[in-house]
Amino acid sequence: MRAKLGVIGAAAALVVGLAACGGSGAGGGGGAGTSAQPQDLLVGVSMPTQTSERWIADGNSVKQQLEKAGYKVDLQYAGDDIPTQSQQVDQMITQGADLLVIAAIDGTALSSQLQAAAGAKIPVIAYDRLIRDSEHVDFYVTFDNFQVGVAQANALLTGLGLLKEDGSKGTATGPFTIELFAGSLDDNNATFFFKGAMSVLQPLLDNGTLVVKSNQKSIEQGAILRWQQETAQRRMEDLLTSSYNDGTKLQGVLSPYDGISRGIITALQNAGYGTAQNPMPVVTGQDAEIASVKLIADGVQNSTIFKDTRLLAEQAVVAGQAFLGGTQPKANDTTTYDNGVKVVPSFLLPVETVYADTIKPVLVDSGYWTADEVAKGQAG
Ligand code: BGC
Repeated sequence: MRAKLGVIGAAAALVVGLAACGGSGAGGGGGAGTSAQPQDLLVGVSMPTQTSERWIADGNSVKQQLEKAGYKVDLQYAGDDIPTQSQQVDQMITQGADLLVIAAIDGTALSSQLQAAAGAKIPVIAYDRLIRDSEHVDFYVTFDNFQVGVAQANALLTGLGLLKEDGSKGTATGPFTIELFAGSLDDNNATFFFKGAMSVLQPLLDNGTLVVKSNQKSIEQGAILRWQQETAQRRMEDLLTSSYNDGTKLQGVLSPYDGISRGIITALQNAGYGTAQNPMPVVTGQDAEIASVKLIADGVQNSTIFKDTRLLAEQAVVAGQAFLGGTQPKANDTTTYDNGVKVVPSFLLPVETVYADTIKPVLVDSGYWTADEVAKGQAG
């Protein structure tokens, strides 16, 4: 934890340091390397939705950190509506943004906006989600998305007793009955999460340790459009009706995101799971949303994957300042993220699995959530 806070401190110092030498910033209306001061520069920040806490935290962190460095910020949320996001980005360009930071709803839907940004010499940073099918994505800040899937699958195996929390072999042998959920197919991350998870689960499906009773094993079959909780609940209800009405007990669910996990858990509880005789299956998650952290503390949800949005925001700010200062940001991955047109230079951050016994050290001690928020299952 101390190491992590050290990283936060170092990045913050870099932000302040770069802001202090702001004379080399970009000029208004886009275009890096001119002599404008940070206060003359506008950064457009486009976020997908406010229905998930993580995007609110991301938006707030990026805005605060940019403002602290002296920039003007136009932060917009698109309500998970693709035309709204396109329109908001168009407007940022028209209003003379000098830099765009975009977490896309549909990774393939912003080509014409990016074309316009390139025409106006506005650098574009893809935030968390890769923007596809455009050569005008200048940089990508994200987490190690394949590793998120690996961590989710390992958490599932740990919950089932096939692994121990330290990664060593557990005492259970199976076979275990599981079901697989995936994210929204228009989000590039969903594929990375699923591929990462299947890299761990496939051998165990092949040798019969794990059994998907519905036989719905492809990402297309498991996908939940826009990562919607209600859609996930409906799919879980359908699976229980179609494949578990013979009395077979479901023992584990691979879930890629906490909102989806809550939909799955509601369907399972409505079907009578969650008692001593009929225990809740092992359900994974992602994002450490506060309602799910409480479910983990209460022993209902197994785990979540914590992505520290404060660190991601810092990376976006550091990369943005490089562009605005007329230089290229530093990538730590230049091979993984092919967007269909080019490999986008990326900065990947690590992720951390959270179980009930690591809520305190990982989430509370780092100041992400307070103990009181965890107890209430509510922010603030
Ligand atoms: C993000 C996840 C998030 C999901 C749903 C993905 O692009 O990487 O952290 O759970 O979107 O919002």
